[in-house]
Amino acid sequence: MAVKINENYQLLKSNYIFAEIAHRVDKFQEENPDAQIIKMGIGDVTRPLPKAVVDKFKEAVEEMGNSETFRGYGPEQGYSFLIKEIIEKDYAPLGIELSEDEVFISDGAKCDTGNIQEIFGLDNIVAVTDPVYPVYVESNVMAGRSGPMNEEGRYEGMVYLPCTEENEFVPELPKTHVDLIYLCFPNNPTGMTLTRDELAKWVEYARKNDSIILFDAAYESYITEDDVPHSIYEIEGAWDVAIEFRSFSKNAGFTGTRCAFTVVPKEIMAVDSLGNQQSVNPLWNRRQTTKFNGVSYPVQVAAKAVYSKEGQKEIRESIDYYMKNAEIIRESLKTVGLKVYGGVNSPYIWVKTPNNMDSWEFFDLLLKEANVVGTPGVGFGPSGEGYFRITAFNTLENTKEAMERLSKLEI
Ligand code: MLT
Repeated sequence: MAVKINENYQLLKSNYIFAEIAHRVDKFQEENPDAQIIKMGIGDVTRPLPKAVVDKFKEAVEEMGNSETFRGYGPEQGYSFLIKEIIEKDYAPLGIELSEDEVFISDGAKCDTGNIQEIFGLDNIVAVTDPVYPVYVESNVMAGRSGPMNEEGRYEGMVYLPCTEENEFVPELPKTHVDLIYLCFPNNPTGMTLTRDELAKWVEYARKNDSIILFDAAYESYITEDDVPHSIYEIEGAWDVAIEFRSFSKNAGFTGTRCAFTVVPKEIMAVDSLGNQQSVNPLWNRRQTTKFNGVSYPVQVAAKAVYSKEGQKEIRESIDYYMKNAEIIRESLKTVGLKVYGGVNSPYIWVKTPNNMDSWEFFDLLLKEANVVGTPGVGFGPSGEGYFRITAFNTLENTKEAMERLSKLEI
């Protein structure tokens, strides 16, 4: 008898969206070796780690090479020195009190948002916005929570909440009961946000329906407007219905260094098969201690340095740099007559494709005619069809050059 595969994997699209784009771009580059391709597809940063971070990172590496200061396995949940810093610098100023065992350091919000579903039963109904960061959907497909995909490209067992021009990219509350709700604001991919009042409606829904919100706040440092919350816990009542994911990737350039954290308040409850309430915090702890050995010591020391005075100054400069790019992209695209969204509280600009072109058609046009790479909106879900995402994470020079090339296109 041969080994059987996990059949759920057969329900997935053949490639992860960013792998598919990389494949197409590599092929194009091979066929056009002289093309100077500018990549504004995947949300990967280009600015180096802040000096304050690098200095501490190096020191910690030295410690690891010295028998007196060498460290082996650290706590799976992360070192207390970093957790304390997060609590004091990210949450205390917002009036949010956390205890240390409610913060879990990890190697990425991608992993955490992908793994969190493991602690919940397979018969939970999952809701996602559409378009959506594919990890939320695909991790549930792999687990067997999705059912097959219908002709429109939606999994039958999941609830999709469209975010389009018609509703100004603000999802409507589900019309039916859902258990787990993934929200990402500032949003990837649309770059749009929810105000405090809008987010409060979701918290109210979760409280009324005994649902849990999985709130991805990886882009919170890009918020510029006052009525946009930085943490879901700013909303009254969110504390016992929401898990929050944060990351050092997009604010401090850790995409290649890997460090993030997840807040799992102990008051969040789910029921077992006997109907007894159980706190989900120990379940996540159990999952992490079994499957994860923690982030390396030097990386956690480096992450702590993000909170130093110098570190904060440097990350602010990088965020401002990217947001300047975002403004250039927004303004340039508007000038050529395109409709653009996002880019105000987010490094993502969401563009309506011209002349009803589909997302991949627009991708091909930009790649071939301007050698510029973006992400086809449909890659984030059916409601992303007819849209296109451009990131502000490239260099200023490349951003200007890309916009210059686009302005010459006949679209
Ligand atoms: C994206 O382009 O959407 C990002 O790469 C998301 C991520 O951080 O994985």
